[in-house]
Amino acid sequence: MHIWPLSNNEKTDFFESSNVETIEQIKQEALKALASASDEENIKSLSVRYLGRKGAVTQFLRNISELPAEQRPEAGKKANEVKKYLESAFNEALKRLEAESGAARDRIDVSLPGRIAPQGILHPISQITRQICDIFTGLGFEIAEGPEVEADYYNFEMLNIPKNHPARDMQDTFYISEDIVLRTHTSPIQVRFMEKHRPPVRIVAPGKVYRCDSDLTHTPMFHQIEGLLVDENISFGDLKGILTTFVHRMFDDQTSLRFRPSFFPFTEPSAEVDILCVMCRGKGCRVCSQTGWLEVLGSGMVHPAVFENVAYDTSRYTGFAFGMGIERIAMLKYGIDDIRKFFENDFRFLSQF
Ligand code: PHE
Repeated sequence: MHIWPLSNNEKTDFFESSNVETIEQIKQEALKALASASDEENIKSLSVRYLGRKGAVTQFLRNISELPAEQRPEAGKKANEVKKYLESAFNEALKRLEAESGAARDRIDVSLPGRIAPQGILHPISQITRQICDIFTGLGFEIAEGPEVEADYYNFEMLNIPKNHPARDMQDTFYISEDIVLRTHTSPIQVRFMEKHRPPVRIVAPGKVYRCDSDLTHTPMFHQIEGLLVDENISFGDLKGILTTFVHRMFDDQTSLRFRPSFFPFTEPSAEVDILCVMCRGKGCRVCSQTGWLEVLGSGMVHPAVFENVAYDTSRYTGFAFGMGIERIAMLKYGIDDIRKFFENDFRFLSQF
């Protein structure tokens, strides 16, 4: 008795004894193999092995003509029955498999741990704003706010920047109308606060500001935080002390500061503050344009003209103010080289913070 599959040299033997028993043998072999076939691929390859163009059943049928004439009708009939039988056995096996996997898909395994829903995080700019505010509230400052759509009067005039003053060119203003602008800095909050409060004043004021400018380091909207401290006997030394403490807490104690003489219409004297480059520690690199220093904020002693605008007694009170770009601080803190990344809302970028 021959057991399928047959090697080529057995082929002659096989066809010599080819009869009803042999085709039955092939059928049993196929069913046995099917019983242990566990997946779709298995079943399909069995189908090819038995019913394909070179499959055992097909070969058997093809070679019936070589049988003795009297055996041919019965062998042919039986072989066709086996072919049909196996065809439907394979099909059913495939259907059963599909139904089972569908059922598995629909079944809920209550013992599995639940899926964790992705949680939102604070935007890096919000995180840095909070860190800066925390440092200043820790130094006795309170938080103030003001409108983003601002009167020319507060954004410029009360800050000692009259109409047609060349200092207006320092900032590319978005005008809503002749007298209304999108604030170009957070400094108008100084004025609004002083109008309503008598000294001593200690505030920081974070918020969005707008300038008609756009490149790697500028976006038309960005964030600033303003600082203002007014009291008796406030000197430039106090300004240096507060800003030094801030920089040391925001970065680290090794980050030294450099005060460079500058000009703002609303402070006198004015200084721009540089910090030691956080990337190269002063050696000179691409980030600091080989200077070893990074400009981080503008500051100065409040100009007496501003105090007069809010009816503060200039013989009694002095004060300092400063303003810094929050994106700038965030970029330095996190080593980000393109400011636009903050506003693209790419979750892959944002979820790193
Ligand atoms: N408002 C200034 C700016 O936007 C910064 C500044 C604030 C300078 C306060 C001095 C005092 O550039």
